[in-house]
Amino acid sequence: MKAVFVTGVSRGIGLEIAKVFSEDGYYIYGSSRSNFDLNKALNTDNAKHFALDVNDRNSINDIFSEIAKSEFILECLINNAGITADNIFLRMKEEEWDSVIETNLTGIFNVTKPAVKIMVKNKFGRIINISSVSGLMGNPGQVNYSASKAGIIGFSKSLAKELASRNITVNTLCPGFIESDMTDAMNENQIQSALEMIPTKRFGTSSEVANTALFLASKNANYITGQTLSVDGGLFMH
Ligand SMILES: NC(=O)c1ccc[n+]([C@@H]2O[C@H](COP(=O)([O-])OP(=O)(O)OC[C@H]3O[C@@H](n4cnc5c(N)ncnc54)[C@H](OP(=O)(O)O)[C@@H]3O)[C@@H](O)[C@H]2O)c1
Repeated sequence: MKAVFVTGVSRGIGLEIAKVFSEDGYYIYGSSRSNFDLNKALNTDNAKHFALDVNDRNSINDIFSEIAKSEFILECLINNAGITADNIFLRMKEEEWDSVIETNLTGIFNVTKPAVKIMVKNKFGRIINISSVSGLMGNPGQVNYSASKAGIIGFSKSLAKELASRNITVNTLCPGFIESDMTDAMNENQIQSALEMIPTKRFGTSSEVANTALFLASKNANYITGQTLSVDGGLFMH
């Protein structure tokens, strides 16, 4: 049975990705720092949750050793875990910079390395990294987040070039404003000014991001690698 590993699976976009891939017949490995009943959330026996911080290299390596020995074939990795710690630059604390870079960018390095070892052995793999429109166009108050998300794009392009001959693709998704806890926290003025910038005049859904990821994981996307695909209603056109 084919398997996918999704980081940040306990809510929002990560949980929706897990649902969509589960419905498509994948075994779901999912992780988040807190304990989470993934089998219950997906209503399936074909899932396993790991309480794991993407900064914990030792635990990550142990988990991927376990996955390498399992009957399920790790075809796809979705690096979705991400945090924000917004502040204007002159007030941004060192911890706000460090935590966002460590989780959003170094976390991807930590998880991708053992996953790629398995994929190289299997001679097949799909890596999908969740960046953000903020990494493409910048956003005031988010120099840490934008830097981490732009870093993901460079990471993905270089890795795509290294792994293309191994039948492993690496692509980046850049969601725009997606209906989520993050956008629920916006006030009416912020919502209105965001909507003015979005040609489709609405926020996106987690399902729209998840189904784009499913396409990139599918055989229909065999010839797509190193790409940065926005799911943002036209907010940023490359
Ligand atoms: N929502 C949007 O509008 C939007 C737009 C553009 C890009 N994105 C990106 O899309 C991704 C998902 O966003 P979301 O809105 O669904 O986020 P969310 O609701 O805040 O969920 C984040 C997930 O990541 C996990 N997580 C956070 N820190 C972690 C760590 N150090 N180690 C392991 N897991 C960790 C969280 O679980 P725990 O807290 O239990 O660890 C949770 O499962 C993020 O990368 C985000 O930057 C979102």
